[in-house]
Amino acid sequence: MSGTRWVVSRLSNALGAMVIGLDLSEPLTREAEERLVELLHEHLVLVFPDQHLTPTRHVEVGQLFGDPYVHPFLHSIPEHEAILQVAKEPHDDEVFGGEYWHADITFRNPPSSVSLLYAIDIPDGPCGDTLFANQFFAYETLSPAMQSTLERLEAVHVYPDVDESEETAAVHPVVRTHPGSGKKALFVNAAFVDRFAGWTAAESRPLLEQLHAHQTRPEFQGRVRWDDHQLTVWDNRAVLHYAMNDYPGKRRILQRVTVMER
Ligand code: SIN
Repeated sequence: MSGTRWVVSRLSNALGAMVIGLDLSEPLTREAEERLVELLHEHLVLVFPDQHLTPTRHVEVGQLFGDPYVHPFLHSIPEHEAILQVAKEPHDDEVFGGEYWHADITFRNPPSSVSLLYAIDIPDGPCGDTLFANQFFAYETLSPAMQSTLERLEAVHVYPDVDESEETAAVHPVVRTHPGSGKKALFVNAAFVDRFAGWTAAESRPLLEQLHAHQTRPEFQGRVRWDDHQLTVWDNRAVLHYAMNDYPGKRRILQRVTVMER
């Protein structure tokens, strides 16, 4: 990396930046690693086009941000147990992860910090984009009274359709302070939050539905297009994401590393 200049261009008002001029296939200097972490704290989603990563290198880049997670229920690729295959085949109706706004692996304690999704085979587009929503904005745009109410609540995050255990359920504050930037984010999501701690699921539903509608407002969003060999890195403590299901009959293959907060 030394001697090269990174060109960083914003993707949208709400979040995201494209980073050109950085080859992630080779080990980075300490200075470059620190800059990468700072850039993610600033932009929340980073897009690196035209990267050529081995599975080992994909995981190594992830380790800059946390400890790789081996999913107990979903399939890893044969080359590495910490890399999930994110696949939709022409005969599949559903996208990986379902059509929910979510952050990855929030049903563990500690929860995930960052996900790194690497494109292997992207259909001819435009299609299959990933949407992101800035959860600092979601928190900041609530009224002060709602902010202080939510700051007193915790939510129970559960992996769906399995018994609750240490592996599959965790309690997290509804408002989390980001360890890197010190900013407050709304930390609930429609895929994994089952209820507020101490509330029933039925009691929780109206407020959760209101928060889910608020946290995905269009002005909080940015949208990432994909190309083969693109790596997109996002901060699960600060954004939600949503995979578009708009490419019926086509194949879309990516590989994901998710790392957990240290
Ligand atoms: C995911 O939810 O991690 C996958 C996102 C995508 O396929 O765009």
